[in-house]
Amino acid sequence: MNTSHWALVTGGSAGIGFAIARELLRREYRVILVSRSEERLQEARRRLLSETGRGEECIALRAADLTQAEAPAELLRWISEMGYAVEVLVNNAGMYFFRDAVALPVEDVERIVSLNVRSVAMMCRLFGEQMAARGHGYILNLSSYSVYMRLPGWSLYSGSKAFVRNFSITFGREMRSRGVVVTTAAPAGVATELMGLPPKVFSLAKKTGFLMRPESCARRVMKALFKGREYIIPGWYNRLWIPLLSCIGRRTAVWFHRKTARWQQ
Ligand SMILES: NC(=O)c1ccc[n+]([C@@H]2O[C@H](COP(=O)([O-])OP(=O)(O)OC[C@H]3O[C@@H](n4cnc5c(N)ncnc54)[C@H](OP(=O)(O)O)[C@@H]3O)[C@@H](O)[C@H]2O)c1
Repeated sequence: MNTSHWALVTGGSAGIGFAIARELLRREYRVILVSRSEERLQEARRRLLSETGRGEECIALRAADLTQAEAPAELLRWISEMGYAVEVLVNNAGMYFFRDAVALPVEDVERIVSLNVRSVAMMCRLFGEQMAARGHGYILNLSSYSVYMRLPGWSLYSGSKAFVRNFSITFGREMRSRGVVVTTAAPAGVATELMGLPPKVFSLAKKTGFLMRPESCARRVMKALFKGREYIIPGWYNRLWIPLLSCIGRRTAVWFHRKTARWQQ
């Protein structure tokens, strides 16, 4: 833990990213929050200051759209100009669709690949280089449990997260000898806005524990990162299902898709 160093959290204004930012502030890091909406960033900063009791100087904000090809390099440039040294990078911003790939507008296909795939690779490449030069750093990449479920409607989402998983684990093995820890997290359902569930389904899923609380997810992934773990699926019970999920065939997957498609807004 280093009080003079910074942690950068993409998608830090909401959901899991917000909860991770709060964990990092509690661990005495200063935090840079990155997401598109300036207004949501300001609101997140207000909440984080009041919930953690840290000073204003501990949170910096940067509005950036990470679907834009030049965004990671611009972010790096701005951070160098500000004189921040990023010790912890959290590639959390992500986009989700529950729709067959051929039914999605082409622009949405480009956006999900740009955000979930390209921006993660570029952020790791650019910030990883600086960490390697310092011989120290931590990177957390958010994959997803959906990589274990080959559900129709998820080809782009789980495909992009499978890239994150394989890229991140292998990248971590390249970086370990350079003093940089890379942890890949694959949460199952977490109670955030990501999936756009209807309010009734969302609240039922939260009450029954089907969706994990973002705070609980953040606590578990942060612990894994600082312990130097390579891969984490938050929640032991989620790990139990994996052998069963790998046995699910096409027909069952198509049936499940038909049954659950109406829950998506
Ligand atoms: N929730 C789950 O069940 C779940 C499960 C497994 C994995 N994950 C992964 O965990 C990560 C976080 O998910 P979440 O559920 O916390 O999502 P969320 O609640 O929808 O929050 C997404 C965050 O990313 C920001 N963001 C979205 N598009 C962006 C862009 N183009 N450029 C920069 N920032 C952007 C959003 O702010 P703005 O809208 O202001 O940009 C927001 O701060 C994602 O990678 C997701 O795939 C989530």
